[in-house]
Amino acid sequence: MLDLRYQTPDGWLTAIRADFDAFLQDHAANERKASAAAIRLAVHHWDLPELVEAMIGLAAEEMEHFQRVYRILRERGVALGQDAPDPYMSKMHSLLRKESTMDFLLDRLLVFSLVEARGCERFGMLADSLEPGVLKDFYADLTGAEARHRGLFLRVARDVFDPAAVARRLDGLIDAEAKIVAALPLRAALH
Ligand SMILES: [Fe+2]
Ligand SMILES: [Fe+2]
Repeated sequence: MLDLRYQTPDGWLTAIRADFDAFLQDHAANERKASAAAIRLAVHHWDLPELVEAMIGLAAEEMEHFQRVYRILRERGVALGQDAPDPYMSKMHSLLRKESTMDFLLDRLLVFSLVEARGCERFGMLADSLEPGVLKDFYADLTGAEARHRGLFLRVARDVFDPAAVARRLDGLIDAEAKIVAALPLRAALH
């Protein structure tokens, strides 16, 4: 199992409430990027059928999330928003070892699993904080999806690699993720 080692403070909820439209725009961008990343992984590892199958399914689901967030934005009269850098994601990408194809693959699977775990934590906080209604149901639904995705990446990693090696690398990456997220300012964004 994967337990994050940094707990998001309630100040994050305060930050996103201060500009909820900006949060939704950032959330939409995250869904779009998650879908694109899953497609890239399938294309790079075309010779691993289990991985390809899992990533095609994931890409489709993340694209559907993207569509759902975009519809919420439209109902609020808010545009999709310009693409903007995500400091959390760029720091998470810097953890990837790029020298060997298989190390790179293991790290991508584990880093993506951690990103899903962080999404699960934060969407869960948001869902818990909202009044009953469409938005609360939406974020509760996404919390469950992120928990599944966290498990999906771990499952693929354990299928392809020695589970003991997966556990060792994951332990280091969980620490690294905690340090990254703790050092970032709280803003009206998922990360
Ligand atoms: Fe998603
Ligand atoms: Fe996800």
